Amino acid sequence: MIAEENAVQLNRFSATLTQEISNPAAQAMLYGIGLTEADMQKPQIGIASTGYEGNTCNMHLNGLSVYVKQGIQANGLVGLIFNTIGVSDGMTNGNDGMRYSLPSRDLIADSIESVVAAQWYDGVVTVVGCDKNMPGAIMAMARLDRPGIMVYGGTIRSGHYKGQKLDIVSAFEALGKKYAGNISDEDFKGVVQNAIPGAGACGGMYTANTMASSIEAMGLSLPLSSTYPATHEGKQEECKKIGAAMRLLLERNITPKDIISRESLENALTVVMALGGSTNAVLHYLAISRAAGIPLTLDDIQAISDRVPLLADLKPSGKYYMEDMLAIGGVPAVMKYLYEQGLIHGDCLTVTGKTVAENLAEAPDLNFEDQAIIRPLSNPIKQTGHIQILRGNLSPTGSVAKITGKEGERFEGVANVFEHEGEIIDALSKGEILPGQVLVIRNAGPKGGPGMSEMLKPTSAIMGAGLGDKVALITDGRFSGGTHGFVVGHVTPEAFEGGPIALVKDGDLITIDAIGRQLTLHVSDEELELRRSNWVQPAPRFTKGVLGKYIRNVKSASEGCVTDED
Ligand code: FES
Repeated sequence: MIAEENAVQLNRFSATLTQEISNPAAQAMLYGIGLTEADMQKPQIGIASTGYEGNTCNMHLNGLSVYVKQGIQANGLVGLIFNTIGVSDGMTNGNDGMRYSLPSRDLIADSIESVVAAQWYDGVVTVVGCDKNMPGAIMAMARLDRPGIMVYGGTIRSGHYKGQKLDIVSAFEALGKKYAGNISDEDFKGVVQNAIPGAGACGGMYTANTMASSIEAMGLSLPLSSTYPATHEGKQEECKKIGAAMRLLLERNITPKDIISRESLENALTVVMALGGSTNAVLHYLAISRAAGIPLTLDDIQAISDRVPLLADLKPSGKYYMEDMLAIGGVPAVMKYLYEQGLIHGDCLTVTGKTVAENLAEAPDLNFEDQAIIRPLSNPIKQTGHIQILRGNLSPTGSVAKITGKEGERFEGVANVFEHEGEIIDALSKGEILPGQVLVIRNAGPKGGPGMSEMLKPTSAIMGAGLGDKVALITDGRFSGGTHGFVVGHVTPEAFEGGPIALVKDGDLITIDAIGRQLTLHVSDEELELRRSNWVQPAPRFTKGVLGKYIRNVKSASEGCVTDED
């Protein structure tokens, strides 16, 4: 333990409240919560938990925050837990709840920024779980630029039913099987009741595990933190180590902007590509880079995808779960291999106070002989990254495709247009989704949705119905990290803003070309102009409340759906 007499110099912010005579009310309140005179000399660390009882991704975070606080206190710091909101993507639905999911990212960022800045905390630990929690936390940490560490709540263990491993996507896909008559009522119920065995974030390389892995690669969480399952004892041990790490960051005044750099963003996105991560990472890293004031564009992300092969056989398109990664050394082992192959920048600073290369010196080596989760560069699943940025007359300012190679790299078909994802479920149950169609779901963008809903329900239902390799789906909404199949999201400009996706009609021919990176609507310019002259912008679905404010402020998906200025 470090001597308390050294601690006072670390009170860069909290001393304003604890030391200045002009703040007796604040000091009275701090004594009122139980601080002693000695405590008043110590740095104060806000511990921001997105914990709440209502979902498995976040149900255990308040408990982990207590371990974090113990470690903070043991290192001569004052830890003060506060809560902020979380929204579980798994519990929303396309009609209402999912509209709040992406906006919750910015609400989390705003909330953490507000508490830490208003209460004069000297640093912050964010304890986070579900998808939007992590980018929200990192955006706040970048804005505040005070010493900080993110703690990921951890991945969930698999569920089991009749000898099959299950996760959240199994429940969605069971619905598609039910519509197609491919599953009994008893087995449908069995899957739903056994898919989720307890605490933790969705277990494939979906959005939560994608963001946790890549934020670890960026250097803002401790090594191996993204790999421990939520219920593994290593997760509790990690929480207890946070105090010593925070102490070191304070002593060296290492802040998030010392850690987030162009190179560390590239490390994060390199891990996203190698592990086959979620397309949502595109939105979130555009937003994180803006919060940190570092230019990053869709073209930069494409360039990383061009040079980093897809190596991981992880769900949703692969076989394994995040929990399986622990046995092979987890994210540090993957990063070490990528570093040795020249794909990771080694000199970036991390929250250990060491560089990436120094951290990786302690990581295990990947053994390609006795595991099949991570492939070597000589035998990748796909020679380039799975995330492809498409442009063309249907998405002039960009769209994001997830192409793992398993679904092919080109799809041409006739448009079947839906104004809402729920209509696809109805159409599927009536047998109206036919092979060869490009399903177009529009007015699902950040403003039009609003909130840029994820299309997990329709894509999982399509998969479950056995149509996954027979239809494609394009949308100005986005996709869950659990989505697989031939899908293109983030189509910009969105339909609500009059983007070309608003002008598509049933029966139009559409080509998705992932090699030429083009999304093409085979309709003449003259016809498109005619359609445009007849197009009327829909009324916003909300004018008040969170969603009304979101519609007024949110920027395009190609700009990360941020809600503030650069
Ligand atoms: Fe929370 Fe998947 S719904 S991590």
